[in-house]
This record gives sequence, C-alpha cells and structure tokens, in this order.
Amino acid sequence: MKFFIDTADIKEIKDLAATGMVDGVTTNPSLAAKSGKKFLDLIAEICAVVPGPVSAEVTALDYDTMMKEAAVLKKIAKNVTIKVPLTPEGLKCCKSLSDDGTMVNVTLCFSPAQALLAAKAGASFISPFVGRLDDIGTDGMALISDICQIYKNYSFKTEVLVASIRHPMHIVAAAKMGAHVSTMPPSTLRQLFNHPLTDKGLKAFLEDWAKTGQSIL
Ligand code: G3P
Repeated sequence: MKFFIDTADIKEIKDLAATGMVDGVTTNPSLAAKSGKKFLDLIAEICAVVPGPVSAEVTALDYDTMMKEAAVLKKIAKNVTIKVPLTPEGLKCCKSLSDDGTMVNVTLCFSPAQALLAAKAGASFISPFVGRLDDIGTDGMALISDICQIYKNYSFKTEVLVASIRHPMHIVAAAKMGAHVSTMPPSTLRQLFNHPLTDKGLKAFLEDWAKTGQSIL
C-alpha cells in the first residue's frame, strides 16, 4: 500500500519524507488556504520535496475553466496530479486529461456508483472520503470494500486512494481490502509507528544492556 500525506504544511512534508514512508501528497483548497501560501508556489515547493504524485485541485466548476486551471497546474512539475471534483464537469475534465496522459485524482467520492463513473473516465486515482461518511453515521470502510470489489471485477486501472482518514485502523482495514493508497494527516502517519509494547520492550532491552557495561562503538 502506498502512503500519501494529506497536508499542505511543508515542514511536516519534509519531516515525514525523511522517514522514507511518503509516496505522495494530497492537498485540497482548505489545506492550501490554511498554509497561507500562494497556491502555485506551494505546489512547486511540495513537488520539489516529494517525487511521487502531488495532488493539486482545480477550483472552477465548469469544464473550460477547469481545463485552463489544469494546464497551469500541470506546468508546475511532472508529478502534479490534477484533482477534480466528482461532478459531470469534473469527470469530463478527467476524461480529457487522462486521454492526454495526465494523472487525475477524482475527489469527493461518497458512493460506489460515483467511483464507477470515475474509473470509466480514466481517473488515475479515486478518493473516497471514509471519515466524512463515518461522521454522518455511514460505514466509510464499506464503501472502500465495494469500490475494491467493483474495480477488481472489471480490472480497472484506477487506484483506490482512501481519503478523509481519521485513525490508523482506517489504514489497516483499507490495506486488508487491498486499497492501493491511503492519504492521511501527518499525525496519523506518526501514530502508525506507535505501540506501547515496543516502548516497554525497548526500555527493558536498554536497561539490561546498560548492566553489561559494554558499548558497540
Ligand atoms: O483531502 C481530502 C480528504 O482527505 C479530506 O479529509 O479530514 O477533511 O475529511 P477531511
């Protein structure tokens, strides 16, 4: 499973890229606004740190303007992935860009039917939002299971990019279902490393080692 981080915080991106666990980055207009930076500069900065796919979202709602925005974003770097909303205009844009060899991430997916449309439009990634479904009392992970099954049935190339992740169990469940990518907040990626028995075991090992009075170096 690939790990993307869902943030526009360049310091966090640099810190986590150094762990070797970051395969890509996803941003959205809300995260970009929070960064306080000029959007095009922000995407260029992220692309210079992470060589994998970096999602940059269009903000227009009509096809023509979306295509113009996509043309500007594509010029920033080779690894820019154009993010479009799951609307008829967004999917039309997805089809045109994908036919042209551009990576497209279709976002704001909340149903298996929408995911099917995105795959037919040639999306490189579909982003189902599991946390936002959980928030309204709907099983977000059931959506991932449905999409994985549908894509497998038809050998679609579109990768399932699990988004709106809230905790490590979302990632574990998604990995068991065979989802291709999880995009997560930096704090959630850090949580994946943690287990109290690891801390306890390491402490005991080091205490016993200290008693030997030895040093490896
Ligand atoms: O970037 C898309 C998605 O991951 C947003 O997550 O936490 O705002 O629901 P969230």
